[in-house]
Amino acid sequence: MSKEQDQIFFRNFSLALGVIAVMMVVFFVVAQFAASDDEAEAKMRSVKVAEVTKPVGQVTAVGEEVEVAEEEAAAVSEVASGDVGKTIYDGLCVNCHGIPAMAAMIPQTGDATAWSTRVEQGNEVLYDHAINGFVGEMGMMPARGSNPKLTDDEVKAAVDYMVGQVDAASAGASTEAAAAPTADAGKTVYEGLCVNCHGVAALASMIPQTGDATAWAARIEKGNDTLYDHAINGFVGDLGMMPGKGGNMKLSDDEVKAAVDYMVQQVK
Ligand code: HEC
Ligand code: HEC
Repeated sequence: MSKEQDQIFFRNFSLALGVIAVMMVVFFVVAQFAASDDEAEAKMRSVKVAEVTKPVGQVTAVGEEVEVAEEEAAAVSEVASGDVGKTIYDGLCVNCHGIPAMAAMIPQTGDATAWSTRVEQGNEVLYDHAINGFVGEMGMMPARGSNPKLTDDEVKAAVDYMVGQVDAASAGASTEAAAAPTADAGKTVYEGLCVNCHGVAALASMIPQTGDATAWAARIEKGNDTLYDHAINGFVGDLGMMPGKGGNMKLSDDEVKAAVDYMVQQVK
C-alpha cells in the first residue's frame, strides 16, 4: 500500500473506533434511562446524564469534582429556565451531532452545508425523522436518538434547538474567521479536533484525557520529542490508537506540536 493509502486506512479506522466509542457512551446513557422508570422528569434526566457521563472508576481530583458539580448545577438551571430543547440536545443528541470528527457520517450541529437541504425539507419532516427514525445517505438517525422515553415535544424541541444552531453558526462565521489567526494556535487546533477524543471524560478508560495527571505523568516523562512524534505520526499504545495528526492530515507538524504543548500545559 502507498503511504497515502495507509493514511486513508488509518484515518477511516480511527473514525470507526471513534464511532464505536461514542456508541458505547450512547448505549450506556440509554441503559441508564431504561433502568430508571420512575424518573420521568426532565430535571432528573439531565442530572442523570451529568452523572453517567462523568469518569467511571477513576480517582477524581478535587478540582474535577468541582467541575462536575458545576455541570450538574448548570444542567438543573437550564431545565428551570425552561430550555428543554437544549437540555435534551446536550444530554443525548450531542453524542452524535456534536462531534466534528464524524462530520462524514453524521450531520454536525451548526454545519450549514450539512443542514441547508435538511432544513429546506421543513420542520414537519425533520420532526418526523427525529421522532420515528430515518435512514439517509449518511447513515441511520435512530428514533428519538435511541431514547424511547423522550416525548414527541421533547424531541421536537431538540430539533428546533439544532436548527437554530445552523443560523447562529452562519451569523458567527465571519467573526470567528477573523478571530482565528490571533488566537493561540495550539488551543485552536486542540479545540477544533483533539478535544473530540481527549476532552470526553466518559472515554477516560480508552483515551488519556486532557488535564488528567494520572493519565499523563508517564507520557510526559517520555519527553516532548516522543509526544510530538506520536501525535504527528500516530501511535498504538496500551489504551488504543492515537491517529496521526488526530486524523487530519492537513494540519502542519507545527500545528500538531502546538496542540501537544497546549495539552501538556493543561496537566501542570
Ligand atoms: C447514534 C447517533 C445519533 C443520535 C444519538 C442522534 N442522531 Fe440525529 N442523525 C444521526 C445520523 C447518522 C443522521 C443522518 C442520517 C442521514 O441523513 O443519512 C441524523 C439526522 C438527524 C436529523 C435530520 C433528518 C433529516 O431529515 O435530514 C435530525 C433532525 C436529527 N438527526 C435530530 C436528532 C435529535 C433531535 C437527536 C436527539 C434526540 C438526535 N438526532 C440524536 C445520528 C444520530
Ligand atoms: C480518534 C481519537 C483521537 C483524536 C482525534 C486525537 N487523539 Fe491523541 N490519543 C488518542 C488515544 C486513544 C491515545 C492513547 C494511545 C495509547 O496510549 O494507547 C492518544 C494519545 C495521545 C498522546 C500521547 C502519546 C504518547 O506517547 O503517550 C498525545 C501527545 C496525543 N494523543 C495528542 C493528540 C493531539 C495533539 C491531537 C489533535 C491534533 C489528538 N491527540 C487527537 C486518541 C485520539
